[in-house]
Amino acid sequence: MPRRDPQSYTDDTQPLTRSFDWHARVDFDSRVLSCTVTLTFTEPARGGPLDLDTRGLGIDRVEDATGQALAHTLHAPDPILGQRLAITVPAGATGVRIVYRTSPEASALQWLAPEQTLGKEQPYLFSQCQAIHARSVVPCQDTPWVRQTYTATLDVPATLRGVMAAASLGREERGTGDGARALERFAMPQPIPPYLFALAVGDVVSRDLSERCRVWAEPAQIEAAAWEFAVVEEHLRVAEQLFGPYDWERCDLLVMPPSFPYGGMENPRLTFLTPSLLAGDRSLVNVLAHELAHSWTGNLVTSTNAEHFWLNEGFTVFAERRIVEALEGEELGALHAALGYERLQQAFAQHAEHPELTHLRTHLAGIDPDLAFSAVPYEKGYLFLKSLEAAVGKKRFDALLAAWLGTHRFGAATTDDFVALVESHEPGLLDRVGASAWLDGPGLPKDHYEPQSKRLAAVRELASHGAVPATELASAWSPAEWQLYLEAMPKPQPHEVCRALDTTYGLTSSKNLEILVSWLVLACESGYAPVLPRVEEVLGSIGRMKYLKPLYRSLLRREETRALARDLFARHRGAYHPIAQQVVGGMMG
Ligand code: BES
Ligand code: ZN
Repeated sequence: MPRRDPQSYTDDTQPLTRSFDWHARVDFDSRVLSCTVTLTFTEPARGGPLDLDTRGLGIDRVEDATGQALAHTLHAPDPILGQRLAITVPAGATGVRIVYRTSPEASALQWLAPEQTLGKEQPYLFSQCQAIHARSVVPCQDTPWVRQTYTATLDVPATLRGVMAAASLGREERGTGDGARALERFAMPQPIPPYLFALAVGDVVSRDLSERCRVWAEPAQIEAAAWEFAVVEEHLRVAEQLFGPYDWERCDLLVMPPSFPYGGMENPRLTFLTPSLLAGDRSLVNVLAHELAHSWTGNLVTSTNAEHFWLNEGFTVFAERRIVEALEGEELGALHAALGYERLQQAFAQHAEHPELTHLRTHLAGIDPDLAFSAVPYEKGYLFLKSLEAAVGKKRFDALLAAWLGTHRFGAATTDDFVALVESHEPGLLDRVGASAWLDGPGLPKDHYEPQSKRLAAVRELASHGAVPATELASAWSPAEWQLYLEAMPKPQPHEVCRALDTTYGLTSSKNLEILVSWLVLACESGYAPVLPRVEEVLGSIGRMKYLKPLYRSLLRREETRALARDLFARHRGAYHPIAQQVVGGMMG
């Protein structure tokens, strides 16, 4: 079976990439990266074809390590995979070199005009390569089971900084005046799956948070970012107790522009975070805990392809909640788990016509992984692991986790690998928890673990009746309790309830985006029009898909706001990252 990943043209009978050297000149006027990449194979080629993944690249020249031109064909685009670049490699070749340009529409890249930044004076560029967008930046074997190290040089305007998810080797300025450039050099010594390749170029500055952690942000946000994420070193320590030493040396953070399509992205050595986490009260730092936890689950042990995505995300949610519990107590962990449970029920409802996408192990040939994305691998994966933990006890479950990480360190793994490991360490455990229903069945098995806590039960009880909480009660609620209440409220609610909630608690002016969006969704699904100006404001100022999707969905759901949804998307789509344009565009029907 030569293709181990339905989302890649990588063929394991062909030479495999061990490392690459990348040089990119960043041109903001044309929105193009002019690049040279040299791929080095794990061993000299036997001679024959080499299939690489590309999307939208303009290929100028393909040669071997000695500069000899190589025959190649750029195949017609497949709507999901992109274009196969087929190169004929001579026997004995140690690698190939490709001179190429990216497209201004490269699916991984967002080019921001100065007006779209905080500072309003400089442009900004950033990448988002997961799931399968690295190929729009670098022609490569774009599948997680081919780990690669790399070196890179970014040639940027001297007024800007270039950063990458790699070790910085320094900056060298060239020329003066308008055309002055800077060369920023990087090396990534730890082998990574291509989806963890990442870069950003913009007017960013940094502040040290600890010996190994530093935060980068636009100057106007650096203070707020340093305060909100000051806990990073503490999070790392808890994770190290749970999982063993941190293997990536540095652990820096980059606060992204508001159009960043995710809450966070676990780019190694440089986690990307949405600015919507800057709530001013550290109430959203579980996202930071989540991305840090990926340094073990996901980055150290990587699912071989998107079909086993739950191995990345389910384990990481489990670790995230362990960190939250260790630092803030079990009650908050339980509230987060309960919120996750609500989200999981919503995901099941959205997948009602595709129950096979609610299995933990999925089959994704012919499916765009960005469109299959949902809470299922996260929250069902979490509940599966909690069920294993409950059945065997914390101590023995932690030993299982350690064995999992130890066995597949810097490797790739499948669901079957996990099954085999559990079976060998804890014979019979999988049967006892009914693992096959978890892995290959829809929805949730009957006897699943359920998070419990007093505060949680109180919030649920209130929400289930659609009751407005008394001020004595709600004034003591944490942001997580508010969010859970709003998510658990049956929808639609009568306008009186919406009005009472908003006038008593000022939800429409909430600074916590999680609470705000949960509220706006409840209000929109209830047809409560006074919130619409705020909905427009949010859709026009943020590109995080976790907010765009439910907001647009709730507008589309009601006849009277359907046209508004289309109109708002038409107006704002240009400000969204290409991935968000694609995903939200798909919802418009
Ligand atoms: N790796 C994901 C983001 C991602 C997933 C990007 C799939 C592209 C394809 C990241 O770790 C993540 O899960 N982020 C969440 C954080 C949350 C679960 C705490 C997010 O963005 O909301
Ligand atoms: Zn994640």
